[in-house]
Amino acid sequence: MEEALRSFFLQLAKNQSMNSWAKRYGLRFGANRFVAGETIESAIAAVQALNNAGMAVTLDHLGEFVADESEARDSADFCVRTLDAIHDAKAEASLSLKLTQIGLDISKELCLENMHMILDTAKKHDLWVNIDMEDFERCQVTLDIFSTLSQSYEKVQTVIQAYLYRSLDDVKALAEANVSIRLVKGAYKEPETVAFPDKADVDANYIKMLELHLPSAGLTSIATHDEHIIEHAKKFIAQHHISRDKYEFQMLFGIRNNLQQQLVDEGYPVRIYVPYGDDWYGYFMRRLAERPANVSFVVRGVFN
Ligand code: FDA
Repeated sequence: MEEALRSFFLQLAKNQSMNSWAKRYGLRFGANRFVAGETIESAIAAVQALNNAGMAVTLDHLGEFVADESEARDSADFCVRTLDAIHDAKAEASLSLKLTQIGLDISKELCLENMHMILDTAKKHDLWVNIDMEDFERCQVTLDIFSTLSQSYEKVQTVIQAYLYRSLDDVKALAEANVSIRLVKGAYKEPETVAFPDKADVDANYIKMLELHLPSAGLTSIATHDEHIIEHAKKFIAQHHISRDKYEFQMLFGIRNNLQQQLVDEGYPVRIYVPYGDDWYGYFMRRLAERPANVSFVVRGVFN
């Protein structure tokens, strides 16, 4: 039943008509539990509240699978404005983005052009940019673009998903290159030909990736709400004397808030992924897929 619901929400996440409807009618159905409003002002207010609670942030102006060039350029402008707003607010935050938001599905050249504009702004403000990982179809091209960009920019990171069979080899190569990565379990619907179907295998692979990357010179962002993995990471960090500037825990806005605060209170570096904007639908559906029990928020949202 849980697996059927998961597939259902991941299928819904790709529905373009629902997405257009959601953009037109604004944040609803309890999505504001996971999304920090639709404007940059609401996002910066959320960033400041988290900073005051001792957490850094990575801010994401929501958007993905853009098929129109002018929309891709507008999205890239939004990324630049987000970096400017972080700088103006003197906030402790980086930027996260998706390559399909800034034109990957239109052409690699357009995407690279937009990435250069965004990374030049980030460099000017001395801020990090993270390239989120999307579905398997876009994995290799994302890693290729990341590899090109990391030769010219120091503060750029990408994401590796534990559910993919290929990921352990990718982490090996990235650890040898001493680049910074975020480790996640993976949030898209992938076939058994490319991804572990069983959660236990995904979790085991996550641990292997973690142990491989933590000792490298690049930053390891441990992005998970899984307490077993977090406890394992804490022990590994202590046993191998991994210094504080070489890792951070990351969690999503609105998920496991107590655990977020507990890690801060214990003295660990914590960064929260804060999404904002009107393109909230696909992101929200993936959060429902991760935990179908979240549907109770939707039900409450409908009647509020
Ligand atoms: P797991 O799914 O095992 O959850 C562990 C526990 O966390 C659950 O038991 C529950 O208590 C809680 N939990 C998890 N999800 C929840 C939810 N939606 N609602 C309420 N509680 C929940 N993926 C991707 O493919 N590409 C990417 O670029 C990113 N980026 C990213 C950044 C950051 C900072 C995080 C934390 C995650 C991502 N992800 C991602 C998403 C990731 O792949 C994964 O889908 C989620 O983190 C859920 O997996 P967990 O590691 O939390 O474990």
